Amino acid sequence: MEETLKQILDNYRKNEGNIISLLQEVQEAFGYIPREAVEWFSKKLDIPSSSFFGVVTFYAQFHLKPTGKNIITACCGTACHVKGSERLIDGLRMELNLIEGEDTTEDREFTIEKVACVGTCSIAPVVIVNKKVHGRMTTDRLSKEIKKLRGEKR
Ligand code: FES
Repeated sequence: MEETLKQILDNYRKNEGNIISLLQEVQEAFGYIPREAVEWFSKKLDIPSSSFFGVVTFYAQFHLKPTGKNIITACCGTACHVKGSERLIDGLRMELNLIEGEDTTEDREFTIEKVACVGTCSIAPVVIVNKKVHGRMTTDRLSKEIKKLRGEKR
């Protein structure tokens, strides 16, 4: 890990210190932001780790835990909420057998994340499956998407 972190630190210095791109590189390298990496940069750059965590938790693109192969992003903004996004998420969690407090399946195939408005309210409720936006999503269609990703028949 240390070699990779040193490389990222060099890039950070070359790019005149941009925390967001540093974190993007960390996530690119490890698939998520390991806490050890944050502590390491915090010491090297003399920046409190809370500053890094502040950025990580503000932007939905960052993950503090290893994520699954497939990322399902459910919009929970007002328009999507009104159109039943909570019901979609509950159905999805059941479909994936996700236990309380977990966002990634045990086999690391799926991660669910919630975000605020993604800016396409006219087609609410919106679910993004591996970066592809699906509007007017229903529990049935979402279930079919999951089956497709699992390679099961519809
Ligand atoms: S609230 Fe979901 S797209 Fe705007």
